[in-house]
Amino acid sequence: MARTAVITGGASGIGRRTAERLVAEGWTVWALDISADAPTEQSVPKDAPGRFHYVTCDVADVDSVTRAIEAIRQETDTIDALICSAGVIRPNSLEDYSIEEVDLMLGVNVKGPWLSIREALPLLRNGATTDDPARVVIVGSVGGIRPKVGSGFYAATKAAVHVLAGVFAVELAETGVVVNAVAPGTVATPMVEEAVANKRSSSYTPSGVSPLGRIGQPDDVADVILFFLSDAAKFVNGTVLPVDGGTRAAFVKN
Ligand SMILES: NC(=O)c1ccc[n+]([C@@H]2O[C@H](COP(=O)([O-])OP(=O)(O)OC[C@H]3O[C@@H](n4cnc5c(N)ncnc54)[C@H](O)[C@@H]3O)[C@@H](O)[C@H]2O)c1
Repeated sequence: MARTAVITGGASGIGRRTAERLVAEGWTVWALDISADAPTEQSVPKDAPGRFHYVTCDVADVDSVTRAIEAIRQETDTIDALICSAGVIRPNSLEDYSIEEVDLMLGVNVKGPWLSIREALPLLRNGATTDDPARVVIVGSVGGIRPKVGSGFYAATKAAVHVLAGVFAVELAETGVVVNAVAPGTVATPMVEEAVANKRSSSYTPSGVSPLGRIGQPDDVADVILFFLSDAAKFVNGTVLPVDGGTRAAFVKN
């Protein structure tokens, strides 16, 4: 039977590419996203009818997440993997952030993964064992590893989810759920384009080109998420793995 993955933020960027890759590999995918633009046409290979589902969901809203998980539970009692990719960035200096910007980033980037994992847990635990655990992958950021001027509150939310990944990893391990985080450097997605176009802080720039001489592509991150979902990673738990072409290491060098 096809394994089931739930991907928050599945309408765009890293989440969307991960959804496409998993469907192509035979998974059933539930994409949860606040966007009304379901990526159905582009994402579902013609030979995979019925294996891509789209649910409009605000991950910062408990009722919305509960409804989305209930819609999934109507179709299946098992979730094999949950990828928390939904995220928002509002570049600004710490002094100038508005309450609305801060509440938005806290809600989507921190409360969102916490709520999504919490609500999905009964289905994640079904059929999971410590030998063959269910997988959770949270999309963090290298910005959460070192303070970054111009997007400080965003970076703080990403540091927070790195911590959530570690604590969840320990708290859930004995029930057969492992939790890891990927920490991308700059990846070519609509988020970065919009952040650069709309920035209110003149000091904001994306982390930019990595030591490998390019920025990341959504596939670079999807590759690593698929590794975390693979049999090879069944004993990997509580890690934060930079996927950044060496950007974090360059931070250290500086
Ligand atoms: N692109 C980068 O350079 C980069 C770097 C590091 C980390 N990240 C992280 O990667 C993840 C994916 O970002 P991306 O670059 O693919 O951006 P993106 O904007 O292409 O995708 C983010 C998705 O999240 C959805 N979303 C936003 N608010 C939501 C909400 N309240 N409920 C449900 N869905 C919501 C959006 O509609 C969008 O589809 C984010 O968590 C982001 O912080 C991105």
